[in-house]
Amino acid sequence: MTDTRSLLATLLSQAAEDAGATLSTDEARDLLTEPPRREMGDIAFPCFVLSKQLRTSPAAIATTLCDAIAGAVSDAPALGGVNAAGPYLNFTVDSAYHAAGVLRAATDEGYGRGSEGEGQTIGIDFSSPNIAKPFGIGHLRSTSIGNALGNIFRMLGYRVVGINHLGDWGTQFGKLMFAYESWGNEEALVKDPITHLYDLYVRFHKAAEEDETLLDEGRAWFKRLEDGDEQATAYWQRFRDLSLREFERIYERLGVSFEHYWGEAYYNDMLAPLVEDLDRAGLTEVSDGAVVVDMSELDMPPCLIVKADGATLYATRDLAAARYRYEQLQFKQFLYIVGAEQTVHFRQVFEVLRRMNYSWAEDCHHIPFGRIHGISTRKGTLVFLDDILNKGKERVAEIMADKPFSDQERELITEQVTVGAVLFYDLSRNRIKNYDFDWDLMLRGLRPGESGQTGPYLQYTHTRLASLERQYIETHGELPDPAAVDYALLGEDAARALITHIEKFPELLRHAARDYEPAQVSRYAIEIAELFNSFYSGGHKVVSEDRALSAARITLANATRRTLATSLGLLGVPLPARM
Ligand code: ARG
Repeated sequence: MTDTRSLLATLLSQAAEDAGATLSTDEARDLLTEPPRREMGDIAFPCFVLSKQLRTSPAAIATTLCDAIAGAVSDAPALGGVNAAGPYLNFTVDSAYHAAGVLRAATDEGYGRGSEGEGQTIGIDFSSPNIAKPFGIGHLRSTSIGNALGNIFRMLGYRVVGINHLGDWGTQFGKLMFAYESWGNEEALVKDPITHLYDLYVRFHKAAEEDETLLDEGRAWFKRLEDGDEQATAYWQRFRDLSLREFERIYERLGVSFEHYWGEAYYNDMLAPLVEDLDRAGLTEVSDGAVVVDMSELDMPPCLIVKADGATLYATRDLAAARYRYEQLQFKQFLYIVGAEQTVHFRQVFEVLRRMNYSWAEDCHHIPFGRIHGISTRKGTLVFLDDILNKGKERVAEIMADKPFSDQERELITEQVTVGAVLFYDLSRNRIKNYDFDWDLMLRGLRPGESGQTGPYLQYTHTRLASLERQYIETHGELPDPAAVDYALLGEDAARALITHIEKFPELLRHAARDYEPAQVSRYAIEIAELFNSFYSGGHKVVSEDRALSAARITLANATRRTLATSLGLLGVPLPARM
């Protein structure tokens, strides 16, 4: 346990110094590992590292250190004993003491919370779909990863500011306006804005294939918009509002929210000053009539700032956005959760910021992710997340058809299971990996008797843990006070393995944050559920007539449930009350 390790580190550092070596407590702590076999001990310290300093064999050092700290070890209630085994020192911990420390912490509110982020802000640009285009599956990944990372950083005490960089500006608006004027239908727009706008967009492109002058019409409308023309602006506002309303509905379904919807258009007034500053700093050059920042030194294409026709670009907006965000937030880090296909774009943007001498440029990170394959689409290559969720929900409802739920409950639970399945699946492998979208895999474990490493299976495990608690309360009254439990009753290997895993939770969160990798939390959740299931199915009845034993085991179950619930909560996976 954390305290035990710190205690060992202090003892080891002291003893090493007495022997004439230098070893800080941090170094000692980092060196601690686990012996290869449980019967050898719980924590091991390898003595190789000191061998050079002390000019003697690791085995001799192990013996020296062992003698030096044996007394302190036997005085420490946390520790069982120490012995030297070749080049290693092996420590046993007092398992009851250890269990008490871990489970009392883990049954407390907010287990895993950290304070290292206090007073620091992390900005996260995530989801960021494009107006007048469907909310695609790539945006699902950005949404789930960004949301999970935000939750993890919040848990560690950071102030997290989520920003939705809506794609709400650009030439597609000109096309849409022309298309709407030509073929639009007010009723259809209001009824299902995203679909209608998308249909118009598709129709425009088809028509433009036949008749290229339509492209000029589109450009002319966009120009009107850029010039602040009243009619164009009204269309823009309308399309944006209606689309945003749709996106918000999806976000609500997914349980996701943002501190700011600062879309691309938000930065319009900041573009001219940006371009001026770039010019003044001597960073730009003119190439074929366009203003660019050369990147040949880095073997990258030039970063386009202003097109020959005067239009600004995606990168221009990102540069202006970055400056504005820093001004507003004074962030410690800023994360862009965007697919790996935009890697060059972000390298260019960060490089320009660096050349502008912004020290915070190095605190901006692109957090890339892989693609989702294998999805059947309603239209071409674009998919509508809403459709996908609804399709999944039908399957879930089918599998759960014979459950004795009320209609209202059924609606809620099937929705929670569907959303949980999609989000967990999305976050269950390292983000950079591509994956196939496959409902069978996502829902594995939902059918009775089936198990799987999925959201629904973990949701189900969570409800089983909760029902054990209800069973305990029926049999023995209130849940026990964790301060008054006999932890010596949790000495079995399966219980100890679970306790050791629960103990790792706070550190796991730190690692997941450091690596920007929510998959570490998903793997952790799978492991904790599996460890509990093997404890439970290994013949360890949790609630029995034996009051003291039941109290110890329900405390373990409670700590497991809370830790699982927190993990799933960080990933955005909802917790059904029953399944
Ligand atoms: N709207 C963009 C897209 O769909 C993603 C925006 C990502 N964020 C950014 N600051 N560039 O590709």
